Amino acid sequence: MTKTTRMMTISELAVRRGSIKDIEEITNLENRAFGSHAYDYPSLRYMLGIANSVTTVATIEGRIVGYATVFFRKNSRISHLESIAVDPDFQGTGIGRVLMEEVDRVSIERNCTLIVLETFEKNVSALKLYERSGYMAKELVPDYYHIPYGGSRNAVRFEKRLQVK
Ligand SMILES: CC(C)(COP(=O)(O)OP(=O)(O)OC[C@H]1O[C@@H](n2cnc3c(N)ncnc32)[C@H](O)[C@@H]1OP(=O)(O)O)[C@@H](O)C(=O)NCCC(=O)NCCS
Repeated sequence: MTKTTRMMTISELAVRRGSIKDIEEITNLENRAFGSHAYDYPSLRYMLGIANSVTTVATIEGRIVGYATVFFRKNSRISHLESIAVDPDFQGTGIGRVLMEEVDRVSIERNCTLIVLETFEKNVSALKLYERSGYMAKELVPDYYHIPYGGSRNAVRFEKRLQVK
């Protein structure tokens, strides 16, 4: 694939609400983006299928090139960014930023005042994306990720306050 410039990608990019119908494409993208740390099919089916979540997909010419899933809880004004990934062919072209704007939008739509997320403490691209999207690193969470037969990894918890009327 020829290298996609930031301008080209943004002009061709569309976002829409994802659904369980997108599971095959999202599973494929998830595996390509996360490798051995990817969510498995049943976890993605749960994320896409449960009532209290919103998945946004980013597409180029109809192909899914990124997704973000936000969880909501009943009687809570805190949303949780459960997962975000961009196809490795398109990383670094601004799609993550566009998805993060959608995360804000869907959270505001649900009257949330705070978005919370966790990421691996050494995931440089994710750390940068969240900082650039207005999140503040709040705490280090020891052993947040449990890796089967591989020990555990620390996470950084980020928060972003939303201006809701
Ligand atoms: C993290 C991820 C979603 C970022 O998406 P992306 O589309 O590549 O990010 P963008 O192109 O929108 O870049 C957003 C910002 O992050 C920074 N960034 C992105 N990739 C980076 C990298 N590899 N190194 C350093 N900074 C990086 C950029 O500086 C950019 O800021 P800028 O627009 O002010 O220059 C993507 O790299 C990915 O899918 N990674 C694998 C899955 C993953 O780790 N998900 C997060 C788990 S919590």
